[in-house]
Amino acid sequence: MLPKVRKAVFPAAGLGTRFLPATKAQPKEMLPLVDKPLIQYGVEEAIYSGIQNIIIVTGRGKTAIEDHFDVSFELEYLLESRGKKDLLATVRSVSDLINVSYIRQKEALGLGHAILRAQELVGNESFAAVLSDDVIDAETPCLRQLLDVHEFFRAPVLAVMEVPRENISAYGVVDAEPIAHKGGKDRLYRIRDMIEKPKPSDAPSNLAIIGRYVLTHEIFDCISSIEPGSGGEIQLTDALKKLLHSRPIYAYRFEGTRYDAGDKLGFLKATVEFALRRHDLGEAFREYLKSLHL
Ligand code: UTP
Repeated sequence: MLPKVRKAVFPAAGLGTRFLPATKAQPKEMLPLVDKPLIQYGVEEAIYSGIQNIIIVTGRGKTAIEDHFDVSFELEYLLESRGKKDLLATVRSVSDLINVSYIRQKEALGLGHAILRAQELVGNESFAAVLSDDVIDAETPCLRQLLDVHEFFRAPVLAVMEVPRENISAYGVVDAEPIAHKGGKDRLYRIRDMIEKPKPSDAPSNLAIIGRYVLTHEIFDCISSIEPGSGGEIQLTDALKKLLHSRPIYAYRFEGTRYDAGDKLGFLKATVEFALRRHDLGEAFREYLKSLHL
């Protein structure tokens, strides 16, 4: 049997400049959507997709992320002694979730550079990469959808979505041809080329790469051999473009809704929609929103 993808890398060492000042002293991955930090949504997605080994690439605010996934004896003791069983279970379930390892990216030199830091921990295996400021609501977890394609082709697979032309310059964009695939429902593409943050007039399509990837270990050599690209950063898209010379790469237009929670407006939209869906909060919150007479 072919080996399963066992590890997911979470780059969380970016500067989060779009969310200053909140991200001055803590990573944006710790911003809470309702009551859960962004990174926990991503970690849960990985777990629901069958991946249990989590590698977090941290920069500043390292302790906040580590403490979040660690056991908090004081907090557990306090909740236990006060008989707060539900809260205790919530807190314990976070630290029981996963096997987690951390690696440091000392300088924010780009997403590609952050992924390269995980090379030793990943080894010679295929792995997932999750950018947890992209929060994805989907019936089948987005990462699971990508893994299904990866398990069929044994090739790298990137999640893509259609984006309006005027916004395309914020993304890596693929030039890709649709291909038939069982159960793929016109969602699968073979990538011909890709470009990071193109001008709208240079964009080869409206298919933007978002923050879910299944990668093969050859990506590490490609990242090591490229120069800084757009924004002076070591770009993952440039390394993927290089990898494309030696093997096919696929794009999958995933089923689900993606929120850009690393952006203030995207974060607010996600907060409102996730709060409305909560059984303990949704009704009261809906009434409150109605009372605003917008
Ligand atoms: P972004 O470009 O969205 O993050 O990177 P950023 O640079 O932190 O944010 P802005 O644009 O300044 O607001 C995508 C992901 O890659 C990680 C980020 O933490 C985020 O999860 N990243 C980016 C790194 O880990 N290291 C880097 O050097 C750059």
